[in-house]
This record gives sequence, structure tokens and C-alpha cells, in this order.
Amino acid sequence: MKVFVWLSVVLYAVSVTVAAPQGCTHKVKEQIEPPRGWVKLAPAPPDHIIHLRIALLQPNFTQLEQALYEVSDPDHARYGQHLSKEQVEELVAPHSESINVVDEWLASLGIQQSELSRSSAKDWVKVKVPVSLAEKMLDTTYHVWQHTESGDTIVRTTHYGLPEDVHGHVELVQPTTIFSRFRGMKTTYRLTSSNQQASDSGAASIRSASGTVVDASCNSTITITCLKELYNATGYNSSATNGNTIGITGYLEQYANFMDLQSFYAQQRPDAVNSTFKVTLINGGQNNQTLSAAGIEADLDVEFAFGLTYPTPSYFYSTGGSPPFIPDMDTPTDTNEPYAEWLDYILGVPNPPQTISTSYGDDEQTVPESYAQRVCASFAQLGARGVSLMFSSGDGGVGDGDPDPATQTCYTNDGRNVTRFIPGFPASCPYVTAVGGTTYVPEVAVFFSGGGFSIYFAQPSYQTAAVASYLAKLAPGTYQGLYNPYGRAIPDVSAQANYFLVWNAGEPIYVGGTSASSPTFTGFVSLLNDALISAGRPPLGFLNPFLYSRGVAGLTDITAGNNPGCGTEGFNATVGWDPGKLLNCEKSGWLTITIAVTGLGTPNFGLLKDIVLS
Ligand SMILES: *[C@@H]1O[C@H](CO)[C@@H](O)[C@H](O)[C@H]1NC(C)=O
Ligand SMILES: *[C@@H]1O[C@H](CO)[C@@H](O)[C@H](O)[C@H]1NC(C)=O
Ligand SMILES: *[C@@H]1O[C@H](CO)[C@@H](O)[C@H](O)[C@H]1NC(C)=O
Ligand SMILES: *[C@@H]1O[C@H](CO)[C@@H](O)[C@H](O)[C@H]1NC(C)=O
Ligand SMILES: *[C@@H]1O[C@H](CO)[C@@H](O)[C@H](O)[C@H]1NC(C)=O
Ligand SMILES: *[C@@H]1O[C@H](CO)[C@@H](O)[C@H](O)[C@H]1NC(C)=O
Ligand SMILES: *[C@@H]1O[C@H](CO)[C@@H](O)[C@H](O)[C@H]1NC(C)=O
Ligand SMILES: *[C@@H]1O[C@H](CO)[C@@H](O)[C@H](O)[C@H]1NC(C)=O
Repeated sequence: MKVFVWLSVVLYAVSVTVAAPQGCTHKVKEQIEPPRGWVKLAPAPPDHIIHLRIALLQPNFTQLEQALYEVSDPDHARYGQHLSKEQVEELVAPHSESINVVDEWLASLGIQQSELSRSSAKDWVKVKVPVSLAEKMLDTTYHVWQHTESGDTIVRTTHYGLPEDVHGHVELVQPTTIFSRFRGMKTTYRLTSSNQQASDSGAASIRSASGTVVDASCNSTITITCLKELYNATGYNSSATNGNTIGITGYLEQYANFMDLQSFYAQQRPDAVNSTFKVTLINGGQNNQTLSAAGIEADLDVEFAFGLTYPTPSYFYSTGGSPPFIPDMDTPTDTNEPYAEWLDYILGVPNPPQTISTSYGDDEQTVPESYAQRVCASFAQLGARGVSLMFSSGDGGVGDGDPDPATQTCYTNDGRNVTRFIPGFPASCPYVTAVGGTTYVPEVAVFFSGGGFSIYFAQPSYQTAAVASYLAKLAPGTYQGLYNPYGRAIPDVSAQANYFLVWNAGEPIYVGGTSASSPTFTGFVSLLNDALISAGRPPLGFLNPFLYSRGVAGLTDITAGNNPGCGTEGFNATVGWDPGKLLNCEKSGWLTITIAVTGLGTPNFGLLKDIVLS
């Protein structure tokens, strides 16, 4: 007999005790409302295999966080003294008692030690079990759920529990309550005979907001040359051998194509022709080099990040374990949100690249808060080790990123169903750098640039002054209740995000999105790390404390580009950090609100280089 508790309205930290099958006592660990947009189809097949991940408590994480902030703060004595892999692992290691308790629990269910795998710091335990066993372990019932709009199906539950003696040693178990769909944040434009979007002044060159001189064509077509001119890096040569490396993550069967890269180099970076990147396959990730399998996202990311930084050695991480979403009840996908798989890999590597870009994410609210916190804590580990992590801020403005504005909603899915701006995750993690988008020369905020305020993560101290000064300029009561003024604000910085000339599947096409701005900003961070490493200095590591202090002087504030909305003018652009301008549109009787965001601004590599070397 199975007994579980069903509460109609549940907030966080529910602790209800019920009788569990084996006579021991389970305590509810997490319980959510069925998320908006998903319907329960049927009980999950009992023999369907789930790859469970169990997160053990990290009792000393606050010590790691403190170390992260100290080594990342240019005004602290420990600045640049990054931690080793072993030092970080010591600070996130679970208590040995936690390891024993969990092992005993799994053994009592007949799971052998040999069936378990563990992360490098032993803070995650992974095991493959059939649904029938997972239900017994977690005192729950799994169902096949379908995403109404896309037809995607997954195996999930809305609540789970743990035996009382295990409860306090485990932070979370997934996949249970994750309903994230984890799409790539990209928008694409097919090549047309001429790009109609931007006007041409007829001049040969134009001036950027920072004062650099840029070829006039850059207003409507972004190339490597344009970005170097725009961001003041023309003539800088990086080293192939000083130890600096750069990484791009790939998910969702996005393959970076070698032939496309050669075509791109032949056109935009001729000296790089015949150079290539290393591909690392993680968790069953593939590297399909059939030209027609080339991913637009992956090609965009590697061509621009590696084109900006050649001859810096470069890595592409192809992580599997993500959908094909097969809309078939008999073969539902049960995949984990795949950052965790990539993190397991990269945290186990002794010398990861100093600079890494990711152009994938989802609405923060689709990731359970406990899981978002834990994944974010893993990004802190990389930062403490001296790795700069960039994430696209998202392409949905303050909305939920639904490409069809008519169906875009800004409703919470926590059962309260109130209207709220929807920030993106992982960009909303305070230990990463969120990159928003601009367009045109001189640059203005691009309308789709994701931004706003996290619901889950408190505002980190490095940005409180910048955000407070922005909010102080707002008329009292503006958008009250729609955002969390005490939350982590995004983006931190921005870069060009439209009209990128990319080679994909043998053809040149135009691509846009904060998918373009993250690898771009990352390219310039990698060049800064190159300069530092060549000078015998440590790399920048976690960037934000630097960006919001000394770094501001090397960023170009974007203060123009209002997209006047259908009725309201929204937030005004201001000097300093800003979440940009709002565009409000009345659509089918309710409000769609799009916020364009630029954070502290776009990079001026020459100035930043002088600042970091000074
Ligand atoms: C956490 O830190 C305390 C104090 O430094 C130390 O005594 C303890 O062993 C650490 N715990 C773990 C699990 O490493
Ligand atoms: C670039 O294009 C935009 C949009 O058409 C236009 O407003 C701007 O004036 C152009 N820039 C220059 C320097 O011509
Ligand atoms: C970079 O390399 C090019 C080509 O070798 C050379 O012409 C240029 O002077 C170099 N720039 C610097 C700053 O060394
Ligand atoms: C690239 O490799 C091909 C084949 O080996 C060679 O013919 C060509 O000259 C090389 N190009 C450059 C720029 O090195
Ligand atoms: C590679 O991609 C092509 C085109 O999508 C597909 O036909 C082929 O089966 C794939 N190969 C592998 C090994 O998955
Ligand atoms: C949430 O509220 C909106 C607006 O009142 C409504 O259209 C929608 O059906 C509600 N959704 C749920 C799941 O209650
Ligand atoms: C934006 O600026 C205009 C002109 O200064 C002002 O009238 C308006 O109230 C401002 N809007 C907000 C939301 O601050
Ligand atoms: C570009 O960077 C150099 C330093 O490398 C600086 O002297 C110059 O003023 C910068 N140009 C602009 C327009 O900011």
C-alpha cells in the first residue's frame, strides 16, 4: 500500500511525515504544483529506467562562497589567488556521515556500491533505477507528463520524500520535480540578398559609441573584423602556447561543423584557415560531422568565439542526455537537465579552460529552486578555480521567451498564477556573468535581450549600488509586484546580438540572439586572460566583482535605443547599469512586456586590457 500526502496549496519547506512501504518513515522533501502548460497522461511504465542524481549536503559551502568573492575582488588581498581542484573539493565535500547514511539507505534497497557513480567531490551520487524502485525509494508515483504546446513528454512527479534518517543529509533528488524544457536560446535569420534591417548612411566608416571607427557595413552585418573594430581589439595577437584556452558548451544535439568553420575562416579570418578545435564528448554526446547535421547554435558559438581568439587553443563540449522529445507515451524521455552532466565532467578536469561560454537556458521558474541553487553552487566552484563563465541572458525580454508573443505569458507556475516578469536561468545565478544584447552602430539595446530580476537568488553585494542607483531613478511604484527588486539583476554586460554572418551546413546565413552576444563577450574575456597569462598573471576568474568596480571604466554604457511601445514608454535608459527599455504591447487583451537590457554595457578591449594589466 502506498500512502502519500497531497496538499492543494503548498509553499516551500513542507515537512509532513507519512508511513512508507517498508515500515520506515518518509518525510516529504519537495512538493510542487503541477506546472502550467503540462498535463499528466498516465502512470510511468514500472520498468522505465531513471537516472537518479542524489545531491548530498555541502556543509561548508559558505566558506567556498567567501573564498570565491575574495579571490574575485580586485580590492581584496587574495585577488587572483584561485583555489585548486582539491581545495575546492574539500570545501564542497559532504560530511562522511552523509556518505555513509546514503550508502546504507541505497544498500537497504538492494543497490550495490558498484552500481553507484560519484562526482569528483563525492557531493553527487548517481544511480540508474527502474521507476518501480525509484517510487519505493522516494515514496512517490511517477507519471508521464506532456507539454501541451510542443507535445514533449517526460517522466516526472510533483512530490517526493526521503526516509527520516536520510532526509537531513540530502539536498535534493532529481529527476523528480524538474519540468524544465531547456531550449537553446537562439533566433535565426536566413541570408537574404541584402539585409534590409539597417540603414546605410553611405559613408565608408562609422563611429561607435566608444569612439572607435568601424566599417559602415557593420551596421547590418557582423563579422570578426567588425567586432574587433567595434570593441577596440584590432591588432591584438593572442598566444597559441601560453596556456590560455577557451571553451564552448554544446547541448541538444548541436554539432559544431569543421567544414563550416573552414568556410567561415576563409571568409572572415583567413590566417586561421586549417586550424581547428578539440571536441570533448560527455554523457553520450555525439560529434556528427555530416554537413546537414551542423547546428546553427553550435556553428555560431564556435565560429565567433574561436574566430575572435585564434590561435588560442579551443574546446567544444558536446554533452548528451538531452531530448529528442518523442511525443509518444510509451517512450517518454526522463533526461536530467544536462548542465549537471557537463559540470560533473568539467569539475573533474584538473585544468579547465579559463573562459567558457554557454548559450542555452530556460525560464528560471521551470527549474525547481533547490536544483537551481545547487547547480549555481557548482558554477561557484569553477569561479573559485579561476574560470570565467558567460551565459546568454535569454531572448524573451522579461517574458517567458515564447517565440509567439500572442501566447507569451508572464504567469508564475507555482500555483499562485500571478503576473510576474520571468528571468532566465542559469543567467540568474549570481556566480556567472549574464550577457545581454545590442544591435546597430552606434549600439542600442536589442528588443529581445533577456533581463530583469531573479526570484530565487538574492541580489549579490557586488551589484547592489548599481541596481539601487538605477531603481532610485524609477518613478515610485513603477511595475511594482512584477519584479523582485531584491533579486539578482541581469544582465551584467552586453554585446552585439544581431546580423551575425555565420556559416552553417555549407551556407552563409544571418543569425541573431543573446546566443551571439555570449560567445562574443567571451571572446574578449579570453583575450584579456591571454594578456594576463602572457604577463605571468592569474586569469580573471569570476568576473562580476571586477566588472562592477574597476571594470566599469572599460565598458561602454549603452544609453540609447528606446523601442517605444504600444502605449507606454517603459523604463528609461540611464547612465550606469540598466535593465534597458521596456516595450509594452496590448495583445489579445493582456499585456506583453518586453525589456531590452544592456547591464553595464559592451566591452572596450583596449581599455579593459590596460585596466587588468595596471
Ligand atoms: C567544515 O569546516 C569545519 C571548520 O573549518 C571543519 O571542521 C569540518 O571538518 C568541515 N567539514 C567538512 C565536511 O569538510
Ligand atoms: C544603423 O542602422 C540603424 C537602423 O536602421 C540606424 O538608425 C542608424 O542610424 C544606422 N547607423 C549609421 C551610423 O548609419
Ligand atoms: C599581430 O600580428 C600581425 C601579423 O603577424 C602583425 O602584423 C602585427 O604587428 C601584430 N600585432 C602586434 C600588436 O604585435
Ligand atoms: C590548408 O591545408 C590545405 C591542404 O593541406 C593546403 O592546401 C592549404 O594551403 C592550407 N591553407 C593554409 C592557409 O594554410
Ligand atoms: C548524422 O546526421 C545525419 C543527418 O542528420 C544523419 O542522417 C545520420 O544518421 C547521423 N549519423 C549518426 C551516426 O548519428
Ligand atoms: C492564470 O491566470 C490567467 C489570467 O487570469 C488565466 O488566463 C489562466 O487560465 C490562469 N492559469 C491557470 C493555470 O490557472
Ligand atoms: C522617462 O522619462 C520621461 C522624460 O524624462 C518621463 O516623463 C517619464 O516619467 C520617465 N519614465 C519612467 C518610467 O521613469
Ligand atoms: C582603445 O584602446 C587603447 C588602449 O589599448 C586606448 O588607448 C584607446 O583610447 C582605446 N580607444 C577607444 C576609442 O576607446
